[in-house]
Amino acid sequence: MEFTGAHILSITQFERADIERIFRVADNMEPYAQRKRVTRVLEGAILGNMFFEPSTRTRVSFGAAFNLLGGEVRETTGFKSSAISKGESLYDTARVLSGYSDVICMRHPEAGSVAEFAAASRVPVINGGDGPNEHPSQALLDLYTIRKELADRGRTVDGLRIAMIGDLKYGRTVHSLCKLLCLFDRVQVTLVAPQELAMPGYVVEQMREAGVEVTISDDLLHGIGHVDIAYSTRIQEERFASKDEANLYRGRFRLNQAIYTQYCEPNTVIMHPLPRDSRADANELDNDLNHNPNLAIFRQADNGVLVRMALFALILDVADQVDAHARDVNWYRGGR
Ligand code: NCD
Repeated sequence: MEFTGAHILSITQFERADIERIFRVADNMEPYAQRKRVTRVLEGAILGNMFFEPSTRTRVSFGAAFNLLGGEVRETTGFKSSAISKGESLYDTARVLSGYSDVICMRHPEAGSVAEFAAASRVPVINGGDGPNEHPSQALLDLYTIRKELADRGRTVDGLRIAMIGDLKYGRTVHSLCKLLCLFDRVQVTLVAPQELAMPGYVVEQMREAGVEVTISDDLLHGIGHVDIAYSTRIQEERFASKDEANLYRGRFRLNQAIYTQYCEPNTVIMHPLPRDSRADANELDNDLNHNPNLAIFRQADNGVLVRMALFALILDVADQVDAHARDVNWYRGGR
């Protein structure tokens, strides 16, 4: 695909070569993300960060990624602080905001809303999550993490065995990740969910058509038995009609150290898009896994900065200029 000026709305817009390109650029961002070097390649550019749903990682890491490239961030969070609460349309908001920004990241509770916004925007728009639909940058950082973790084990994404666990109906991260895995060979995906929260049929079909071997299960212990990656997700309570309905599923699939030791192959990587729900009645990934070296959730979150820097650099066409605008940092960096 042509990255320059492109909207990033869905994983389906990528081919495998595009993914490899993003990851090569992301690899190059490491010294900047670790603040060993600074680059000013996006000096003067403005990111409009518009988050109409709660977000910590996605919002802050998009913002940090832009800052690390030398750009500035303007942010709107929640409907209350936006003129959308006065009845302004997405169209008008997009026309206005795109006059103030060089690129926009947006999260919104409705499926398709970010695409609608992008159609009216004068600058590229990145989907930071549109309701239960998609979360493409999360899938990219998830795959980047999978690739890195597997490389440490002498493996590649081709031949990957992964279990996705939890709310696969409303979880937009797993929708995007499944679509992304279609680009790879010999992938086996086990989908572990309560029947009512199963992966949407069209995603399963898309995977099967692409040659992915899909197994559907509602048994956690069976699902995590023979995989390289156990990818856990939170019950997306905000998508349910009521809290009581969400409560029916909360805590259904809990992975802890004892279960991991008994049922997982050694070195199975544990992932989660975060936030994990650590309340006692949920706890899909127990805190007793925190010292398990295979718990990759915080490495995963760190990788988000690299991948988001790569997206900005490609969309704004500066990927080849990053190093030319760089210097070493001059502050005390301790023992890092
Ligand atoms: C996810 C999301 O918002 O879809 N979080 C994230 O962006 N890392 C997952 C979730 O909220 O459960």
